[in-house]
Amino acid sequence: MVRVLVSAGSPAMESLNQTLRTLPFVEIVAATGSIRDAVDMASLDVLDAMIIDESLLSDSWGLQDRLAREPFPLILIVETPNAEATRRALAIHAIDAITHDTIGTLLPPLLKSFDKSSEAGTVIHHIIGVYSAKGGVGKTTLAVNLAWSLARVSERPTCLVDLDLQFGDIGPMVHDGPEITIRELVEGSPKRVEEDKLARALIAVDGLPLDLLLAPLNPQYADLVESHHIKEILSQLKSSHVYTVCDLSAALSDQNLSAMDMADVLMVVATPEIITLRNVARSLKVLQTLYPDPRKLRMVVNRSGTGVPAEKIKEIMPVAVSYWMPSGGVAPVRSANTGKPLVVVDPGNALAISVENIAKMLVEEFEGSSRKTVRKDVL
Ligand SMILES: Nc1ncnc2c1ncn2[C@@H]1O[C@H](COP(=O)(O)OP(=O)(O)OP(=O)(O)O)[C@@H](O)[C@H]1O
Ligand SMILES: [Mg+2]
Repeated sequence: MVRVLVSAGSPAMESLNQTLRTLPFVEIVAATGSIRDAVDMASLDVLDAMIIDESLLSDSWGLQDRLAREPFPLILIVETPNAEATRRALAIHAIDAITHDTIGTLLPPLLKSFDKSSEAGTVIHHIIGVYSAKGGVGKTTLAVNLAWSLARVSERPTCLVDLDLQFGDIGPMVHDGPEITIRELVEGSPKRVEEDKLARALIAVDGLPLDLLLAPLNPQYADLVESHHIKEILSQLKSSHVYTVCDLSAALSDQNLSAMDMADVLMVVATPEIITLRNVARSLKVLQTLYPDPRKLRMVVNRSGTGVPAEKIKEIMPVAVSYWMPSGGVAPVRSANTGKPLVVVDPGNALAISVENIAKMLVEEFEGSSRKTVRKDVL
C-alpha cells in the first residue's frame, strides 16, 4: 500500500482524486487545500509520498524549506512546464513534476514504484479464510489449530482473526485473559482503522509468533464492524503478519464476502453428512463463480470416515477435496474445555496431526521448501 497525502487546490484536486481513487495500491491519508496543514499532518503520519499542487506554493515561501527536508518523495503537479515550475520543483526537492493533463497516465506508474509490497524479495503474505455454509462442522477447530500450527511450523508472524462476528468463540476456546476485541477497533464507526489501535487490540500468544484478534463479546456489536473495516484490518495485518487465518461465519454476508475477497486460500469445510454435503456443494458453486481461480477454493472434509464414504463425497462435490481431517474423538471437546488448542493439549491426536500436516503443506506451497517432514500416513 502506498500512503499518500494530497495538497491541492481546484481543479488539480478533482483530477487527482479521480485518478487516485482508481488505484487499489494507494491509500489517501489526507487531502487538503493548505500546504501548512499538509506539512503539519505529514509530521504525524508515516507517508510514502506527498503530492503538491504548484499553485499552492506561491503563498507558502516559508514552508518550502520544510518541504525540502521531508523524508518521503514529493511530486509536484504543475499547470505549465516552464522555468518557474522547474525552479519550484527544485526548491522543494520534488522527485518529479507532472502536468495536469498527464496526471492519469504518469502518476499511477510513479506511485506504483513506491509500493514496497511489490518489491522483489519482499516476504509474501497469505490470508487463509475458513468458511462453511453449515454451522458446527469444525470451522473454528480448524482455524484455531491451523493458526497455532502455522505459527509453530513457519516460525513467522501469524494472526488468527475471529470474523464470526456474532457468535465467535475463539476467545472462550483459547484465551482466558482480559478481552480486547475487534469491537474496540471500530467503535464510533471510524473511517479508518488506526494502526496503533489495531496493534493494541492484538493478543499475543505466549511462546509463539501468534496474535489473536477476537470477535465482539456480544452479537449486538457485530454490525459495528463494516466491510471496509474488515478490508482495512486485513490489509494492515498483511504488512505485519505473514499468515492471517480468518474464522468466518456461515453467512454469505457483506462482511464475510470482503474477507473472502481478500483471502488467498478459502477453505470450505463440510462433514460427511448428506444434507451438509449438499448445502456445501451448493455454496461452492456460488463461490466458484466469484472466485474462479481453482487454487483459491479448497474443500476440507472434517470427521472423514465417519459418514458418507469418500467416493460418494467426491461425486457430490463440484471441486476435488483438498484435505481430509479424521475424527479426533472426544479430545477436541476436552481441549476446548481446557481453553487450549488440540495441537497443544494432545499433539498426538489424529486430528491434531492432520491439521499440522495441512499447515506444513501450506508452508511448503507458499515458501517453497518444507522445513519439517509431512507425515503422509495420517493425511
Ligand atoms: N474432527 C473432529 N473430531 C471430533 N470433534 C470435532 C472435530 N471437529 C470438530 N469437532 C467438535 O465439534 C464441535 C463443533 O466444532 P466447531 O466449533 O469447530 O465448529 P464450527 O463450524 O466452528 O461451529 P459454529 O458454526 O458454531 O461456529 C466442537 O465441539 C468441536 O470440538
Ligand atoms: Mg465456529
